Amino acid sequence: MKIIEVTNYQEMSKAAADYIISKVQKSPNLILGLATGGTPVGTYKYLVEDHKKNKTSYKDVTTFNLDEYVGLAKENPQSYHSYMNEHFFNHIDINPANTHIPNGKIESIKDEPAAYEELIKESGGIDLQILGIGQNGHIGFNEPGTPFSSNSHIIELAPSTIEANARYFESPEEVPTKANTMGINTIMRSKEILLLVSGENKRQALTQLLEGKISESFPASALLNHPNVVIIADEAARSGR
Ligand code: GLP
Repeated sequence: MKIIEVTNYQEMSKAAADYIISKVQKSPNLILGLATGGTPVGTYKYLVEDHKKNKTSYKDVTTFNLDEYVGLAKENPQSYHSYMNEHFFNHIDINPANTHIPNGKIESIKDEPAAYEELIKESGGIDLQILGIGQNGHIGFNEPGTPFSSNSHIIELAPSTIEANARYFESPEEVPTKANTMGINTIMRSKEILLLVSGENKRQALTQLLEGKISESFPASALLNHPNVVIIADEAARSGR
């Protein structure tokens, strides 16, 4: 596990974008795993700026997003589909057919996650997975207690996650209670993982991760078993470490 120490959110976002850009330039047909939430917004901003200025192309890149809320249609402004279009896909030259996001409008929720898993495998697997971390250590939407052996699945969100994500909705009651997420095993099969951690509210989670104890009660600790993880963490998250 390698840690890149940066000063603040801006620097984290720029460093993450530069990291991704260099991978895309080296491998134009990169399979890129993407994350949502507040953390990567700045990264997407820099990627879009770079695309406009330096013409880094995504036309042969394939993407797989980590997760989606269950019960939100793609068109719903709070969906992660909308988020990805707004922050990234609408501003670059990616082929929409090459972008994949778990389905939130699931009629038969049983088959969808397995099909998503299959799609990732067929693509050759994720080369670089971008990750954020929840305050309770969740990655994707894998809440504490999720087996490390889990593949893509439907999960019940923890009350603390609903509370943390309520800021994006009119009220906590509007936050979906379930999500369709890559599993921990899905994430672990990525060849490389880039974990972004910013802000004081992530300090506890980062501290716990760096303590090095591996336990399913703290999902991010699975990453300690991965051979190729880079963390970019800002000062507020590192608490002066
Ligand atoms: C969300 C997402 C995660 C994200 C995490 C942190 O619920 N499902 O993929 O990494 O929680 O979110 P934020 O970056 O907004 O703090």
